[in-house]
Amino acid sequence: MKNIVVFASGSGSNFQSLINAVSDGKLTANIVGLITNNRSAFALERAQKHGIPTFIISPDQFNSEPDYSKTVLSKLEEWNTDLLILAGYLKKIPIEIIKSFDNRILNIHPSLLPKYGGKGFYGSKVHEAVIRNKDSQSGCTVHVVTAEYDEGPVIGQSTVQVADSDTAASLAEKVLEREHILLPETIQKYLKTLKN
Ligand code: GRF
Repeated sequence: MKNIVVFASGSGSNFQSLINAVSDGKLTANIVGLITNNRSAFALERAQKHGIPTFIISPDQFNSEPDYSKTVLSKLEEWNTDLLILAGYLKKIPIEIIKSFDNRILNIHPSLLPKYGGKGFYGSKVHEAVIRNKDSQSGCTVHVVTAEYDEGPVIGQSTVQVADSDTAASLAEKVLEREHILLPETIQKYLKTLKN
């Protein structure tokens, strides 16, 4: 079975959806660790509750990006990591890590990429833009992480209808519900495509 490490900066409800999918047998993988940059992330409590090892690390603690990458990479090696999942992780992944985990980093984004992707589009900013533009649909996307922000190959997408009565907050809730289904399903399919 493959070993998954999740990166999360906040609530970690997507992380929880993976924990649940593993215990329901829908995701056949081991979640071997949680990495966060935020010592008050609720994701940490979720990890502790389920006995998942955690590592708190922020690029701000390091003088250089390569030093930061080296520390993260040695933790990933210690955990025998096969796949990284970015689930609400708000820090940039350095190029050294992207190169070491080529095609083995997935991210979930709360829009139908390529719409509302890239710099400045995170969290509520995405949903506010969808409402402002009166789009009739939105959704979420799982993509492979490459050096280009939010631009790697899309491997899973789920669409929700935007009602006239929706606000950014109600849309965020609808999309998040879909994320919790899309993320474990997409990982399960992706794992089958990975060699050895
Ligand atoms: C999700 O909307 C995810 O798509 C985005 O950040 C949010 C994280 O939510 N990248 P949670 O921490 O998993 O609850």
